Amino acid sequence: MSIIELEGIYTAYEGDDKPIIRDLTLNIGRGEYVVIGGPNSAGKTTLLESINGLVKITHGRANVCGFDVRRSGHDVRKKVGYVVQNFYFDPFTPFTTQQVVMMGRYGRLGLLKRPLEEDYKAAERAIRLVGIEDLAQKTIGTLSGGQQQKVMIAHNLAKEPEVMLLDEPFSNLDFSAREYLQAILLDLVKGGTPIVIVSHAFDGLPDIRIHLVVMNEGRITKDICCPAQAVEDIVRKSSLKQ
Ligand SMILES: Nc1ncnc2c1ncn2[C@@H]1O[C@H](COP(=O)(O)OP(=O)(O)O)[C@@H](O)[C@H]1O
Ligand SMILES: [Mg+2]
Repeated sequence: MSIIELEGIYTAYEGDDKPIIRDLTLNIGRGEYVVIGGPNSAGKTTLLESINGLVKITHGRANVCGFDVRRSGHDVRKKVGYVVQNFYFDPFTPFTTQQVVMMGRYGRLGLLKRPLEEDYKAAERAIRLVGIEDLAQKTIGTLSGGQQQKVMIAHNLAKEPEVMLLDEPFSNLDFSAREYLQAILLDLVKGGTPIVIVSHAFDGLPDIRIHLVVMNEGRITKDICCPAQAVEDIVRKSSLKQ
């Protein structure tokens, strides 16, 4: 059974009548490592936001983690991790790294419920996994872009999501942090959690079958399973053809 099922969806931003995503169909199942490629403005970010109900789907069917995205976006977002492409924290943001990571657990807590031991443990585990123990007590606004990126990754790992979406997650990271993140993502996939990465960096992909999706002008132009080594070439060629 697919965890993400999109069938003929169209999406438009608030106030726009022209759809950005057009007639898009995509299925993603357990343990898939999905890479979304394509030129700038192809609609890659918009696709991720359609999956978790942050952009209005005007036509078609969208089911994610068993919920109808068009009706139950809030439920979908509790199950889906999303590391966004562009974030900005004011230097005076009062939350520490530890608190921001802990917020990843909030969707699991009932209204007014206090975090339990297991919630603190999950946050701690995520901080350790990403290797940001030394940042735990620092406020997030004082960190560098790369450090903030790691905090946002830890926040989403603490969430223990059923699907993980990541938008250009490597762009702020140095080489060793990229390798480290790839290892974490591979572990997720091996544990059955599908990941969907929008990326331009295809060189560090793990040596497993990749579900490659290439987009252009709001449509999918290629949707195949291929070895990691073939990804870069296929994306380049199918972008040239346009
Ligand atoms: N918030 C928004 N409101 C209106 N249009 C948007 C918004 N975000 C993106 N777009 C438009 O949607 C198209 C696809 O953008 P995007 O999904 O960000 O592409 P990509 O991530 O592939 O670079 C672009 O033409 C962009 O201008
Ligand atoms: Mg984008």
